[in-house]
Amino acid sequence: MDKIISSKTGLKGKIKIPGDKSISHRAVMFGSLAKGDTEITGFLKGDDCMSTISCFKKLGIDIEVEDDKVIVHGKGLHGLKAPDELLDVGNSGTTIRLISGILAAQNFDCTLNGDASIQKRPMKRVINPLSQMGADIESTNDGYAPLAIHGRKLKAIEYTMPVASAQVKSSVLLASLFAEGVTVINEPVASRDHTEIMLNYFGADIKNNNGVITSRPVEELYGRNLEVPGDISSAAFFMVAGLVVPDSHIIIENVGINPTRTGIIDALKAMGGYVEIINPRESGGELVGDIEVKTSKLKATTLEGSIIPRMIDEIPVFAVAALCAEGTTVVKDATELKVKESNRIAAMSEELGKMGVTIKETEDGMIIEGNQKLKGGTVYSHLDHRVAMSCAIAALIADGDTVITNADCVGISFPNFYELLENL
Ligand code: S3P
Repeated sequence: MDKIISSKTGLKGKIKIPGDKSISHRAVMFGSLAKGDTEITGFLKGDDCMSTISCFKKLGIDIEVEDDKVIVHGKGLHGLKAPDELLDVGNSGTTIRLISGILAAQNFDCTLNGDASIQKRPMKRVINPLSQMGADIESTNDGYAPLAIHGRKLKAIEYTMPVASAQVKSSVLLASLFAEGVTVINEPVASRDHTEIMLNYFGADIKNNNGVITSRPVEELYGRNLEVPGDISSAAFFMVAGLVVPDSHIIIENVGINPTRTGIIDALKAMGGYVEIINPRESGGELVGDIEVKTSKLKATTLEGSIIPRMIDEIPVFAVAALCAEGTTVVKDATELKVKESNRIAAMSEELGKMGVTIKETEDGMIIEGNQKLKGGTVYSHLDHRVAMSCAIAALIADGDTVITNADCVGISFPNFYELLENL
């Protein structure tokens, strides 16, 4: 599907965005490993999370998807059964990396694969630590999917994370539930901690002492009810739109504001953006709030170090904000962007280039001159949901219409994105 977006002024209103992708995946996975039912409201019915549901159904878990909730009938830590067929993770990096930690410890074998993008995403980052725990994971494609996992008895390890990755950390933590001994993970730079929060909510014993995370195996996890907050990564598109589109005022309701995810708010505020959190509250151990944004005059900033993992998925749309700022914005320490659903540094530079602006690619990030004028053009999503949505936000401030080709990939994380944008 192609999508045509024209320039806009005065985006006004209150919106509710879909549930958090990271939390929705985890709710299904941990619910499957828990004893009893887990009722999930606010679940993101995007393609990625539906891939997680489909994998766990094939592993013998009964999961009901209703209009307003998902119910997982968990079978306990040792309740999964061997699947009759290959487990297809689609486009979902979170599914393949997290589930590997679980499957490595089962008493059966299975094979995981996904789409063309998944087959280009590095899996050695989970194969290495899991192998140290005793896992037997075969990649016929030199460290990429498909992965054949032969279930084994695992033992605890002490592991120092070479990259800040919540997916890798979570994979090891999931394996630790089945391993003999106490698993220790050293995390020099913090990544999102939804796994730690939610597993503990289900009865696990995970502690974080200044970046040293310990996990002690427990007898069982227990099903719990969960309310998934709105995804700050999805909210980010409307935050940037509200700041850069003239005469805008948007309130985004019920957004997850876990401090390991709020780098985008800090970055936009540092640029002088009006971004306020209203009515902060807690739900299931996760912080939630409403976010208010108003059109603002932005100034350039530098992103580097520990803020990067706190806003890794938001950097493509952040680049659009930087194009509108006064001065030169620099993004460093962000090589991870090259191994997402697409190479997001190259994709953003290439596609926004077609809209008449320059984003300079660097070894570990980008350099973005501010005050650049965008013009409409035809851009390609790279089949990457966040590239498509970032281009759509750029289109709002471009002169003339923009066509986004293969625009329907937004269904991965934000199925009603275009509809919400049009309603505003
Ligand atoms: C995710 C972690 C991040 C993020 C991805 C979701 C998660 O990946 O980019 O969209 O749910 O754990 P890394 O942990 O590999 O950086």
